[in-house]
Amino acid sequence: KPKKQNNMMVAHDMLTKLYHHLLINTEQGKEAYDYLIERGFSDDIIKNFQIGFAPNSWDFVSNFLQRREFNLDEMIDAGLLSRSEEGKVFDRFRNRIMFPIWDRQGNTIAFGGRTISDDKVKYLNSPETKLFHKGNNLYAFHLARPHIRKKEQLLLFEGYIDVIAATKAGCENAVATLGTAITPEQATLIRRNADNVIICYDGDNAGVNAAFKATQMLEENGCYVKIALLPDNLDPDDFIRKYGAEKFKSEIINAARTVMAFKMEYFRRRKNLQDEGERMRYIEEVLKEISKLPKAIERDHYLRQIASEFSLSLDALKSQQFQIFKQMR
Ligand code: UTP
Ligand code: MN
Ligand code: MN
Ligand code: MN
Ligand code: MN
Repeated sequence: KPKKQNNMMVAHDMLTKLYHHLLINTEQGKEAYDYLIERGFSDDIIKNFQIGFAPNSWDFVSNFLQRREFNLDEMIDAGLLSRSEEGKVFDRFRNRIMFPIWDRQGNTIAFGGRTISDDKVKYLNSPETKLFHKGNNLYAFHLARPHIRKKEQLLLFEGYIDVIAATKAGCENAVATLGTAITPEQATLIRRNADNVIICYDGDNAGVNAAFKATQMLEENGCYVKIALLPDNLDPDDFIRKYGAEKFKSEIINAARTVMAFKMEYFRRRKNLQDEGERMRYIEEVLKEISKLPKAIERDHYLRQIASEFSLSLDALKSQQFQIFKQMR
């Protein structure tokens, strides 16, 4: 009799194929398929990422697994089925587009399911199981790894769809943290595979703040980090659909900035620098950030940049930065 873990693995593999089949070949998958095509997915992409559809049913998958003599308690532990308070077993994923989440060898070990109705849970993910530890995993890592190695660079996204959109745009060194918070295990995995990381989180406040935290963790692990700045609260997939692959590469990925330069640009976009008062507040904000930099040469570099941009004396800037530095202690 196969080990329990293998059964879970076998079930995930079978369901990956079943969900994919339902999406591309059946009437019940048509709405989800049309939704994906509408969003710019191609058949090749759907195949490459093994995207599927979990039907709008309480017992389709549980019947499927039962017929194949899987132990239903084990399937509940695997996060594929659930049990109601009355003890009834039912399908955990219903009426959702299914994104398989793979281990480093490419075996499916979990799913992320996106609703195609108005369910208030946009993405329902597999819980932590024997197979799946969310914090140890990067979405699409096994697909991206050869490209990461070759380019000596990794692109880090928030979500499934951003990775897929980036891959389609020719950026195949793309992985996602599955939500915004990066874990130390993910940082270690990244460091082992790439020196250079470009963080390409959503352009909203949550994404930007998460990018700062991820930068810090990755820099502590020894990566060189840049942050891509997306305009107008767009996420990478939104941007690619709106402006195309070429602009994404030239204006977002290749224009990614060090965290300090990113912060300067980010503050700048929130201020009217023609206004003297706002300009002074901008400079103070930047001086505060400069004061946090650990390396003197970095501080000097940005002080000179500000001095020349705003025609200020370097001495005056340095003494003001030193005041701020003392206040911060
Ligand atoms: P987003 O809310 O930015 O979704 O979450 P998205 O990837 O842009 O998806 P679309 O474009 O609206 O379809 C980013 C990532 O955070 C995780 C998922 O991994 C998602 O891809 N997330 C988000 C969840 O796990 N659960 C949620 O309810 C929402
Ligand atoms: Mn374990
Ligand atoms: Mn978001
Ligand atoms: Mn998003
Ligand atoms: Mn999106």
